[in-house]
Amino acid sequence: MQMPTSSFDKISPTALIMAYARQFTDIPYSQELAQLVNAQAFVERLQKQQSDKSFEIAVLFEGRYKAINQMIAQFRTTQIIELASGLLPRGMVMSQDPGIVFIESDLPAMISSKQQLVKQLVGDRSNLHFIATDATSQPSQFPLDVDYLDSLTPITVISEGLLLYLTLNQKQHVFTNVRELLQVYGGVWITPDLMTKEDLSRIRGTSPALQKFSQTVRVMTGTSDKDTIFDNLDQVRQFTSEQGFQLQAYSMLNVLDQLTCLEPLGINPAVAESILTDSFVFAFTLMPSF
Ligand SMILES: C[S@@+](CC[C@H](N)C(=O)[O-])C[C@H]1O[C@@H](n2cnc3c(N)ncnc32)[C@H](O)[C@@H]1O
Repeated sequence: MQMPTSSFDKISPTALIMAYARQFTDIPYSQELAQLVNAQAFVERLQKQQSDKSFEIAVLFEGRYKAINQMIAQFRTTQIIELASGLLPRGMVMSQDPGIVFIESDLPAMISSKQQLVKQLVGDRSNLHFIATDATSQPSQFPLDVDYLDSLTPITVISEGLLLYLTLNQKQHVFTNVRELLQVYGGVWITPDLMTKEDLSRIRGTSPALQKFSQTVRVMTGTSDKDTIFDNLDQVRQFTSEQGFQLQAYSMLNVLDQLTCLEPLGINPAVAESILTDSFVFAFTLMPSF
């Protein structure tokens, strides 16, 4: 049974947490976006009950943004669709290149406010599109036949911070929809979202503050690790191959030296290294038989 969109809407405010974290980095437009949505006030409200206000989770958010960018460059595609864009600035950054077609997608309310924010910051761009999409919807709401995409050119699908909140059944729907997209265009799906219980327990052991904060977010979104997180990498591999994908995992340690949030947030570099040691970005491509 498909979850009503309103349940997913409880996940949307988490985008403010990521926007808050990114303002302590050198990621373009992050400060502007965080200020426009007053992300600080939102995070302060969430942290009210917490004695330890350190924000080590920012390491994960900066790390995944930069690791995904490295992989996008590696696959050299000119057509990109970002699922669950939230308040990510990547569309604004990448569409500065007129040779790139970038599509931002998210739930209707979120994508509509994002479009307004982007307009305020950089105006309209003919190569930057916004579409309202429930990534789990069956049938798919992804752009399978639109005049701004070339079906002869591979596409790169990106998602960060979406699958972690979805049940196995909902993940299956997203995989089906992405599979359909890649069957039309070819290309790759890049996501860090298949963190396992094993990875998370090591990361949370390193950072009790991160552990506490993740619990707060779980309560806020009405989701739980139990229903949404795979036990280990073998389970991830089995699930993804059943969905018709092969995967390659890239360590986020590759971007350790690019982290800029440590100093402003007073994060210990050893803790950051330990967090990234257990964090990966995955590249999914279709198995030849699919
Ligand atoms: C944790 S935020 C991540 C936002 C952004 N990707 C980032 O990293 O900053 C989760 C995002 O998923 C979106 N979302 C939740 N359920 C969704 C669904 N079923 N389809 C598409 N987007 C969804 C929310 O609106 C929100 O923007």
